[in-house]
Amino acid sequence: MEHNLREAGFFGTMEPEQMTAKYGSPVYVYNEGILRSRCRELKQMVTYPHFVIDYSIKANFNPALLQIVKEEGLEVDVMSPGEIYLAKMAGYEPNQIFYICNNVSEEEMCYAIEAGVTTSVDSLSQLEQYGRLNPGGKVAIRLNPGHGAGHHQKVVTAGKETKFGIDAEMLHEVKEILARHNLALIGLNQHIGSLFLDKEQYLKSVDSILNCAKEFPDLEFVDFGGGFGISYHKEDKKKRLDLKDLGKELDEIMYRFAEEYGREIIFRAEPGRYVTAESSVLLGTVTAVKNNHENKYIGTDIGFNVLMRPVLYDSYHEIEVYGKSVEMSGKKERVTVVGNICESGDILAKDRMLPSMREKDVIGVLDAGAYGHVMSSNYNGRLRPAEVLVKEDREVCLIRKRDTFEDLAGNYVLLP
Ligand code: LLP
Repeated sequence: MEHNLREAGFFGTMEPEQMTAKYGSPVYVYNEGILRSRCRELKQMVTYPHFVIDYSIKANFNPALLQIVKEEGLEVDVMSPGEIYLAKMAGYEPNQIFYICNNVSEEEMCYAIEAGVTTSVDSLSQLEQYGRLNPGGKVAIRLNPGHGAGHHQKVVTAGKETKFGIDAEMLHEVKEILARHNLALIGLNQHIGSLFLDKEQYLKSVDSILNCAKEFPDLEFVDFGGGFGISYHKEDKKKRLDLKDLGKELDEIMYRFAEEYGREIIFRAEPGRYVTAESSVLLGTVTAVKNNHENKYIGTDIGFNVLMRPVLYDSYHEIEVYGKSVEMSGKKERVTVVGNICESGDILAKDRMLPSMREKDVIGVLDAGAYGHVMSSNYNGRLRPAEVLVKEDREVCLIRKRDTFEDLAGNYVLLP
């Protein structure tokens, strides 16, 4: 029998079947120990004393998880007033929140200015807007280093073909706008894209942002971005981005730059996925088993409203099966695992060799903690799942209730 996460103690004092019975199926289950160890690995990746890890909460903004991340000493980066609100709910102070704007309205920008969080803008037009709204204020700008990286074209966030950042050639205009509104440029940031396993593109972008940083003598920080990859494939789990190796290179670069720069400077990185992805298993239930022509389908309650990544990016997630019958038979077969949404693209895993399953078996979708629950929806009138946490003492607690029909209907207004 293969070693699975249940045997490894991931679910604490409860069995997966007890969890779906108690909290509803599907349910996102998080493991506190794994979350904390990822935070610690990141905190320890360099020795440079002024290095801040901003957890990019777009990957998962459950405030209970943010409380843990905060206890581990990570700050946060946010994308919207909603994320500012949730970070504050988890206890973050405004000076620990970095708001990275992309095409935001005046209203959103004002919210951030009033909240007192550091704000980064990513176009000349938004820099003008910031200057009008907060003359004499402090601001950061997002640069586009001219090349990107990522697991899918949709998540490459730098380079000529993307909407993000300001080109290095535009620094002259940046300086004009800063002067016109009497703004202090306190930071430069960038983000090349999501999920790279190789450090080279990241280091190339570090080089490029530091070249720009030399032109601004009063910076408080330079933020190199996130994107640190993990492996979603069980067989090459160790093939994640080597943080220690990257950290060693960064250390050398940061110490050298700080010495040349001549004033204390903070460096930041903003990983999202690396922090939370592996801390969660999404549990669901087999609802139907059927043969359609050549294919054997395992129907489940995990539609793409619950986990969008496979449908949106063709992403791979390992699946484990926890049913008792499975353990006894030990048999495997080739199946396609699908959800309960009325679209034929609603496929969780295509042509996978998995233990032979029966109705009511509980399955686990691994590495679901980043871009999982936050990207879920009520499509097809489905209820978004509960989230539970297996604490370090192995006890299980609820950290988000499952939607109810009242939640689903709550914001609609009937005609009189
Ligand atoms: N900073 C900025 C400005 C970002 O846009 C992102 C992610 C991050 C940091 C964090 O990147 P990470 O370390 O998590 O790779 N939904 C997609 C991923 C989209 C990432 C968007 N930006 C997925 O499920 O793969």
